Amino acid sequence: MRIDVVTIFPAFFDVLEVSLLGKARGAGILDVRVHDLREFTHDRHRTVDDTPYGGGAGMVMKPEPWGEALDAIVADAGDARPTFLFPSPAGERFTQAMARELSAAPHLVFGCGRYEGIDERVFAYAATLGEVRLVSLGDYVLNGGEVAAMAMIEAVGRLVPGVVGNPDSLVEESHEDGLLEYPSYTKPASWRGYDVPDVLLSGHHGRVAQWRRDQQVQRTRERRPDLLPD
Ligand code: ADE
Repeated sequence: MRIDVVTIFPAFFDVLEVSLLGKARGAGILDVRVHDLREFTHDRHRTVDDTPYGGGAGMVMKPEPWGEALDAIVADAGDARPTFLFPSPAGERFTQAMARELSAAPHLVFGCGRYEGIDERVFAYAATLGEVRLVSLGDYVLNGGEVAAMAMIEAVGRLVPGVVGNPDSLVEESHEDGLLEYPSYTKPASWRGYDVPDVLLSGHHGRVAQWRRDQQVQRTRERRPDLLPD
């Protein structure tokens, strides 16, 4: 999978070098390229923002550098219609199901906005080049799209075949079956007075599976009742 990122803070993405995703990049499974939006400006100050039409607080990202950056990426990749993802608190909610869907896409382009956002016409233009989605991590506001894009790259990237060594570990996770994950324990069986639940030491697979399922339902009811059917 190819992933391009456009940002005014390329350094945010330096951490993609480490951990599982770093390995996947090294192995050629994920081809991640980070672009500095300011490279697509032509003035001495490398200006990427301006005041909003109609007034209001803050600054808006200018369309021209975005247009050039998206054109350059599409020309370089030479592929048909990439998927453009613009992290935004005004977007549709990012979910595990969306991560699964995106993990099958050949080419994702993340556009990271700052300030009060990106000039709306950029989204209309991007839609002539590929699919466009504005995506929110949740109902809170970050300073820009970078941290959100990192989270999405990790959530999507780990679902690309070959990135996570043991694909079984992707199955019994929170949100994969609509419930939160069951609690996990390892050795020692007793630690600082806290004991591992007896059923997990029983060696009885059926009872273990039932206990885990019960724990999933109980946790989901307590912490995320919104995930359960009414
Ligand atoms: N940019 C700013 N806030 C955001 C959020 N909650 N999700 C995605 N992108 C954002």
